Amino acid sequence: AAGAAAWAGGAFDPRLVGPHDPLVARTEAARRRPGATTVTARLHPRPVRHDLGGPVVTTWGYADSGPGPLLRARPGDLLRVEVTNDLPVSTSVHWHGVALRNDMDGVPGVTQRPIAAGGRYTYEFTVPDPGTYFYHPHSGVQLDRALYGVLVVDDPAEAGDHDQEWVVVLDDWVDGTGRTPDDVLAALTSMGGHGSMGGMAGMPGMSGGMELMTSPLLGGAGDVAYPHQLVNGRVPAAPVTLTGRPGQRVRIRLVNAASDTAYRVALSGHRLTVTHTDGFPVVPTDTDSLLLGMGERVDLLVRLGDGVFGLVAAAEGKTGQGLAVVRTGAGDPPPPAVRPAELDRQVRNTGTLRAAAQVALPRRRPDRTHRLVLGGGMMPYRWTVNGATWDDADPLVVGHGERVRLEFVNTTTMFHPMHVHGHTFAVAGGGARKDTVIVTPGRTVAVELDAVNPGRWMTHCHNVYHAETGMMVDLAYR
Ligand code: C2O
Ligand code: CU
Repeated sequence: AAGAAAWAGGAFDPRLVGPHDPLVARTEAARRRPGATTVTARLHPRPVRHDLGGPVVTTWGYADSGPGPLLRARPGDLLRVEVTNDLPVSTSVHWHGVALRNDMDGVPGVTQRPIAAGGRYTYEFTVPDPGTYFYHPHSGVQLDRALYGVLVVDDPAEAGDHDQEWVVVLDDWVDGTGRTPDDVLAALTSMGGHGSMGGMAGMPGMSGGMELMTSPLLGGAGDVAYPHQLVNGRVPAAPVTLTGRPGQRVRIRLVNAASDTAYRVALSGHRLTVTHTDGFPVVPTDTDSLLLGMGERVDLLVRLGDGVFGLVAAAEGKTGQGLAVVRTGAGDPPPPAVRPAELDRQVRNTGTLRAAAQVALPRRRPDRTHRLVLGGGMMPYRWTVNGATWDDADPLVVGHGERVRLEFVNTTTMFHPMHVHGHTFAVAGGGARKDTVIVTPGRTVAVELDAVNPGRWMTHCHNVYHAETGMMVDLAYR
């Protein structure tokens, strides 16, 4: 299918990337902090058996259970990650949200050759900005196995603002049900040829797929109904427990690593204070619950109450939810299907948060505007930007130093979390600094960025099935 060409890429042309470009070298050198340390880590993608807390599945992962190793560095450090690929296929590692040097961005066919089965590759780059990031392959739909992990870049200035920290990763799970993500992709792309649901019949949890179009907030959340929703690699029947003491201030770093599911997240009995999204500070904002699209992150501050609480991630527009138990005192754990009242009170879309003053993009007239009309649909299963799939899309050209405005125009009935590599944009009109923003059906979201990180950068929907079947375009420095 067309998809195979997409995230895997075509022939690699090193001249496109510019590792030899003096501008790339200078930009990288400017990021290095004097006295910076080198942080070394290893990633070992491999076939694994994961116990999800009942279901035991055979899949691919970076760890023997749950997300891959938590990587931590400080701004200005050099991060060196040695990857040994023990998968039966080639892979890559993309550093989602990090404004890094282009040749380390991990997009096979565009910024590097794929890491062959049995091969090795070392990523080495300076991490510029503090925040919550994550890493995953940019090869096919590998992200939809268990191939993801979190990268935290600690801000020394924020060390004292909380008593402890929890890293919480959300994921929708189809692998291990008799179908792999590659089977799902094959089934999706075989749809529509004969006016039927084609390969969808018999898909786990697939009740015709159309229940998915009903989200009140999104219009249609996704394509694939997942049998399990995971929090830190566990199903709700056997959830992880996060412990603390009443009155403590906890920082929750929340990552949506799912491929096809947005979540509405709440902690029963608590208000959430959103302090950051996609790594960058916002004007602190209290809410009962929030909506997190695929590829988005938020940092929350919570003052813990006394008792046992459910941290629930309800799959938006679908049935099913993920659960973690928060325990600060005595009490029975909540039932797996607990639905905190907070989920149905005030819901915040992270795209509506305001940037904190210190990271607000200074006002400036855009030098260039690109309009990205998001199109396509389920039958046939094909997703486009300006009518083209990635393999035949013209790159969005930008000039170094320009203020660039991107207008995402959603003409479909599904939402698309749009992600730009290598840059952090500002949602137009003083909105948050982000790298991934939800574009709901029929709406336009404009973002602005300063083109100061030369290279060739993917710009795509973070529904990996949408990206893989075409909803992706390059942003290229001329
Ligand atoms: Cu998580 Cu191309 O992105
Ligand atoms: Cu999409």
